[in-house]
Amino acid sequence: MELTPTELSPAERYRLLIGGIVPRPIAFVSTVDADDRLNLAPFSFFNGVGSNPMTVMFCPANQPDGSDKDTLRNALPIDEGGVGEFVINVASASYINRVAAAAEELDFGESEFDLTGLTPVASQVVRPPRVAESPVAFECRTTHVIRTNPGSPGGGNVVLGEVVHVFIRDDLINERFHIDPAALDAVGRMGGLGYATTRDRFDLPRGTAALEQNPAT
Ligand SMILES: Cc1cc2nc3c(=O)[nH]c(=O)nc-3n(C[C@H](O)[C@H](O)[C@H](O)COP(=O)(O)O)c2cc1C
Repeated sequence: MELTPTELSPAERYRLLIGGIVPRPIAFVSTVDADDRLNLAPFSFFNGVGSNPMTVMFCPANQPDGSDKDTLRNALPIDEGGVGEFVINVASASYINRVAAAAEELDFGESEFDLTGLTPVASQVVRPPRVAESPVAFECRTTHVIRTNPGSPGGGNVVLGEVVHVFIRDDLINERFHIDPAALDAVGRMGGLGYATTRDRFDLPRGTAALEQNPAT
């Protein structure tokens, strides 16, 4: 099947993105508004960007009415009306039900911390708290917001942030800064309502040496 995106409905395009780009890591993003009211929501359009400076990105799409999601309102740079900071908590299996629960649409200013019973802990550098239940948290300052279709339903927004502090639970990391994937037990998002654990892992050398090894399946 050959498909031209402009000939598809937005819902069909969305299904192709979330079913074809899998598994996606999940940023569980905590933010605050100008009055320090807490907000928490998961975003699987998320990744690292570069290590110098240490930079990450996630993508809160526009709401069906074209408006900004609460997370984006809060994370916008100060000169664009936001607080300019956010924390990315890495979603892991131990609390994944509460990650999914935090996608509930609450009114602006209502806290998904209260809804889920997750625990806010003061961050070291930024105003939004990290999630105590999360084994890894990246404290970030927003550097750029790129809007692909401002004000339109389904339009994308790329929030880029510089990581200004990192929390990692002590048992997860060794002296060479390698993170133990079994202890992290990260969960990824698939299409539809699907999720994937990271419990079926394998190593491969880089480059042509990879061809000498038995296939993964
Ligand atoms: C696992 C998961 C991943 C999600 N990823 C995204 C995403 O990448 N972008 C997006 O706009 N919404 C995503 N959502 C939906 C938002 O979490 C949801 O719209 C949430 O209510 C936004 O909250 P906010 O208005 O407090 O920012 C995801 C939901 C779940 C459960």
